[in-house]
Amino acid sequence: MENYDLVIRNGVTATHKESVKQDIGIRGGKIVTLGEIEEKGTREIDAEGLLVLPGGIDAHCHIEQKSSSGIMTADDFYSGSVSAAFGGTTTLLPFAAQHRGQSLRQVVDEYMACAKPKSVIDYGFHLIISDASDAIIGQELPAMIEDGITSFKIYMTYDDLKLDDYEILNVLAAARREQAMVMIHAENHDVIRWITEKLLEQGKGAPKYHAVAHARIAEREATHRAISLAELLDTPMLVVHVSSEAALNEIRRAQKRGLKIYGETCPQYLFLTIDDLDKDGMDGAMFCCSPPPRDTASQEAIWEGLIDGSFTVFSSDHAPYRYDGSGKLAAGPEPTFDKIANGVPGLEIRMPLLFSEGVGKGRMDIHRFVELTATNAAKTYGLYPRKGTIAIGSDADIALWDAQKEVKITAENIHDNMDYTPYEGRIAKGWPTTVISRGRIVIENEELKVERGSGQYLKRERPEAAKPTGRLVPEIDPKTNFDAKFI
Ligand code: URP
Ligand code: ZN
Ligand code: ZN
Repeated sequence: MENYDLVIRNGVTATHKESVKQDIGIRGGKIVTLGEIEEKGTREIDAEGLLVLPGGIDAHCHIEQKSSSGIMTADDFYSGSVSAAFGGTTTLLPFAAQHRGQSLRQVVDEYMACAKPKSVIDYGFHLIISDASDAIIGQELPAMIEDGITSFKIYMTYDDLKLDDYEILNVLAAARREQAMVMIHAENHDVIRWITEKLLEQGKGAPKYHAVAHARIAEREATHRAISLAELLDTPMLVVHVSSEAALNEIRRAQKRGLKIYGETCPQYLFLTIDDLDKDGMDGAMFCCSPPPRDTASQEAIWEGLIDGSFTVFSSDHAPYRYDGSGKLAAGPEPTFDKIANGVPGLEIRMPLLFSEGVGKGRMDIHRFVELTATNAAKTYGLYPRKGTIAIGSDADIALWDAQKEVKITAENIHDNMDYTPYEGRIAKGWPTTVISRGRIVIENEELKVERGSGQYLKRERPEAAKPTGRLVPEIDPKTNFDAKFI
């Protein structure tokens, strides 16, 4: 006779592979039985008419993160995790961002101290590495990877973050040795800088010019270059927040060559366009993010990449800066576009908007939705099968979805700490009604049911996805003319 803490009955479970009408028995925070369950649980949920999905994993978000210019994101780990949970997400992978001169240990300790007393759902961290000195890459980074922070982001742009190609090669070589996942922000810094200078000389400082400066060519070129560097060293790599067809095609070409190159895109590239940056006064600042939203043809191309499997993950890139002096307007009431904090919020709407416009409108099936919002992130970042699926032995991270529930998205009804949402007034059909994390009911009847700090830190495995292919390019292949031992 089993004793269950919780039994979910009569729902249709949908994973990345299959849909099955079955009950789910949960004990000690884990899924222990799938199928028909006769015994009663301490707690029972009737999921008749609902979809039972793995809780989402948001693998790209900026929470309680201080930018190098000192601007703080509007969400801390409490408001950020609550907002994520209301949107069906049960795991967060935000960044622990290194500013140059800081040790990685110090950075991670600081972010841990912020998250532990506040997060209501489970969380891990990716590092952001802005200092690629030998000490950081050779000693500190391997120690952090050993401790379970098995992925990190590097940048090809932003003055305070960018690494040059030489530094990127050093980082890629370390990632290869350690089997860590490299995430890369691919935009050509000098192209952006050059166009920005010309625009400002002509007095063109309005928010819409942000999209001109962050040209598609800058994204395409950097994506191509980043892939070339990764190919040289046979290092798996994920290109984050892809906005355009040209960059997506670089990823597709690499995948066709058999490289382990992965892509990520985000809601802003499906649901916003450059026209949103061209609003009255400074209002376009609310839509400034990098890369910027493009045009409707790009939106369609990004949809295609999600549907055909070119993209591996769909993340929010939640980077919440309020539309006031604490955030978007920190440089003054009318800053030029290059002084506007980059980023848009999206933790809570990530899954509902993709469900509504993707599954609801017949663009993708539920299995692809689950894969993009949960399973692939778990696989890519060393959390699978603990997270990202509904299987015996997995954490009971589950979102019960009502595919018919319609909600109008407004700044008031989103639970983050923002004063606007870029998706104001949109109606998303299909929302989670009950959200469960490790068997704990986190959200029910539109209410938060758990205490702050009840989420747990996730020490992650080295991802299988970060294992090199073993196929070196001819220049490095020892069978041809070069000694591969140096990597
Ligand atoms: O504009 C964006 N995406 N801001 C967040 C930082 C980043 O590069 O992801
Ligand atoms: Zn980025
Ligand atoms: Zn980001």
